[in-house]
Amino acid sequence: MTSSEIRQRFIDFFAKRGHAVLPSASLVPKNDPSVLFNTAGMQPLVPYLMGQPHPLGTRLVSAQKCVRTGDIEEVGNHKNLTFFEMLGNWSLGDYFKEDAIKWSFEFLTSKEEGLGLDPKRLYITVFEGDDNAPRDMEAVEIWKQYVPENRIYFLPAKNNWWSPGDNGPCGPDTEMFYDVTPQGLGDLTHEQYVAADDIGTVVEIWNDVFMQYEKRDGAVIGKLAQKNVDTGSGLERVSMLAQGKTNVYEADMFAPVMALLRQHSQNYTERDARIVADHLRTALFLTADGVLPSNKDQGYILRRIIRRAVLKLKFLQADPIIASQIIDHYIAFYGDVYPEVAQEGLRMVMKVEEEKFEKTLIAGLKEFEKGIDPFTLATTYGFPIEITEELGLERGILVNRKMFDEQMKAHQELSRKGAEQKFKGGLADTSEKTTRLHTAHHLLLAALQKVLGPEVHQRGSNITEERLRIDFSFDRKMTDEEKTEVERLVNSWITTDHKVCRREMPRIEAEQLGAEMEFGAKYPDVVSVYVIENDQGEAISKEFCGGPHVEHTAELGTFKIQKEEAVAAGIRRIKATLA
Ligand code: SER
Repeated sequence: MTSSEIRQRFIDFFAKRGHAVLPSASLVPKNDPSVLFNTAGMQPLVPYLMGQPHPLGTRLVSAQKCVRTGDIEEVGNHKNLTFFEMLGNWSLGDYFKEDAIKWSFEFLTSKEEGLGLDPKRLYITVFEGDDNAPRDMEAVEIWKQYVPENRIYFLPAKNNWWSPGDNGPCGPDTEMFYDVTPQGLGDLTHEQYVAADDIGTVVEIWNDVFMQYEKRDGAVIGKLAQKNVDTGSGLERVSMLAQGKTNVYEADMFAPVMALLRQHSQNYTERDARIVADHLRTALFLTADGVLPSNKDQGYILRRIIRRAVLKLKFLQADPIIASQIIDHYIAFYGDVYPEVAQEGLRMVMKVEEEKFEKTLIAGLKEFEKGIDPFTLATTYGFPIEITEELGLERGILVNRKMFDEQMKAHQELSRKGAEQKFKGGLADTSEKTTRLHTAHHLLLAALQKVLGPEVHQRGSNITEERLRIDFSFDRKMTDEEKTEVERLVNSWITTDHKVCRREMPRIEAEQLGAEMEFGAKYPDVVSVYVIENDQGEAISKEFCGGPHVEHTAELGTFKIQKEEAVAAGIRRIKATLA
């Protein structure tokens, strides 16, 4: 069964049971500044798990693109990936444990409608109970209808309590594991089961979370108004099992890539090849969702992933055309389901990054040979610590990672303070002129997003009576045509004359509206949003903002960009005036 069939089977299985089908959201969360990427299918659904009604009802199903880089060091083993698709079904205060467990079991084992996996290879874990919630005997009773009781294990919150972070919906879960050994493990005692999980002879394939609680600042504070179900199953892992393989890189999305690497590398190692296969796929999906390499946030992760892939290709002594062939494979493999990957973004980005990285490596390598310490290598030469570690390993030099991490933390703290000062911004005063420029600033950001892409966001601002200044995320110099188009758009919004309205609303609502937020800012529960609307009531611009602003854009005059320049890697600055 191909992974594509499995994805479809999953969606069909739950659609048949009354679930509305959701398309995958972008990897970059739209309204959740607390995470860089969607790391689970539930992430875009948080407001609905918290009680807000979902427009499509109380039963939902999706295959969601996810990126998790927390265990990037594990990539290269048989099961960890930085990008994966999570198959998930949700009950928003609808069905609960009975149906969730029954359907998980049915989908995993049914030959007609599901994966046809062997029930004798299944092991189940459930929550053992603590001060927050009781031992989940209910789940055990339900599971006993499907698996022998001695294959059900109680584990603590560390294993069987799931939350997306320190804040939000959470609850006890029950997880399904599958035996991947050729001979089969048979019955296992509790200790044997824990050991099997540690060494990876059983692999987690599905998690049913009974989301009934809420966490704030890391502590469970009480029950939610509704009992939800949030499930997640990794498509790559279940594909590996349904295809009778024992490592994800033998599943159909990766097998041709591994074959290419094996064939075209002079110095083939399985681990490095797996890292390349994983990282190039992740890079493709990230660029397809508009992420560009930079030194911050999502862009930093992308840069790190690309550079690591490039380095591994070097270690493999792979044919230089191989990266492009791998990208071709992924585009062909995923293009039908995720048409966004067909854009040529990654190839362009890779070329630029490879060149930059090449320079960094040459300079860094020289310093490394001289014995320069890892911290200086990283901060002065942009030489990634992972690479220092790997080079060190090859030469028998042990890198003190703990010391490095501490130095980096102190360094980042300092640069954060520096950055705050550099970007120290806001309005110099509330005079008429400054207020006009403030409204023009909102129009400018909206125009930049229209012309350069929705991934452009404000990183700083400074407005005086004379001029406005905006710092924004974007990775290259703007062309003259782009600048002219931005000016034209802003001036057209000024001459058409649009109303500028201030609205007060709950923060959650403003986030769902997609109102632009200030980078890194924390907002209260009720916020003020400035919306500039056209006559059809469509928002040209919406931003979390305290004001002040003019009431009509016609009051602004003629807008002109005076200067466009770089201020930091991945950050541009525009100075503009009104006449
Ligand atoms: N949110 C849960 C997880 O990621 C179930 O999907 O494991």
